[in-house]
Amino acid sequence: MAREKNYVSEAVMRRMPKYYRYLTDMESNGIERISSKELSQRMGLTASQIRQDFNCFGGFGQQGYGYNVSELRQEIHNILGLTNDNNFIVIGAGNLGQALANYTGFEKEGFTVKALFDINPRLIGLSIRGIPVYDIDELETHIARNQVHMVAICTPKEKAQEIADKVIGCGIKAIWNFAAIDIATPPDVIVENVHLSDSLYTLSFRMNDL
Ligand code: NAI
Repeated sequence: MAREKNYVSEAVMRRMPKYYRYLTDMESNGIERISSKELSQRMGLTASQIRQDFNCFGGFGQQGYGYNVSELRQEIHNILGLTNDNNFIVIGAGNLGQALANYTGFEKEGFTVKALFDINPRLIGLSIRGIPVYDIDELETHIARNQVHMVAICTPKEKAQEIADKVIGCGIKAIWNFAAIDIATPPDVIVENVHLSDSLYTLSFRMNDL
């Protein structure tokens, strides 16, 4: 049955992956059922917050029973769109680009790195865990000929906007940006930034309070 989908705020959306992570962990630890109180304690949220979050998607769980862990995990899996296969390519086959290609965890949820692209002749032609590194000049042709759902940008920040413009011109609608720059995109293109240094600086700021 299709669930009613209400407006979902940014804050709720940002919590969904955390629910998914916790539920996946509970399921692999053999936990079948959890009360809203226990789930809230584990996650550091209030039970009412959790109910409100789930109500955005029509609500889950039953009064007096709590939540069936596997069912709830599956619901959130669907909400997050993890039912889809998402092929992605990585631009910039340096330290970070290679680390993404080497990590097998994303594939378990349907995110598969199909190719890397670089300008460095020493990297072009190599393969990282069997994934080819192509010349950046082949980017447009590759996107035209293959199903590419998203692009990860792992180049120096000076090149990130240019690359974003290029892949958007090829019809790409989803960009996972690791370069430390906020790239400008049209409204129909989604960018998810992973600015690791922001997180590191926040940690440093909070260390001052210790
Ligand atoms: P890196 O220097 O090892 O790799 C960058 C790669 O991009 C190089 O192989 C270079 O040849 C390639 N490149 C440069 N211009 C290009 C272009 N126009 N088209 C295609 N490829 C191009 O750098 P690293 O460490 O992998 O970092 C990549 C990006 O991620 C940087 O913007 C960096 O600030 C950011 N970053 C990296 C982190 C890390 O832990 N390595 C952490 C956080 C952010």
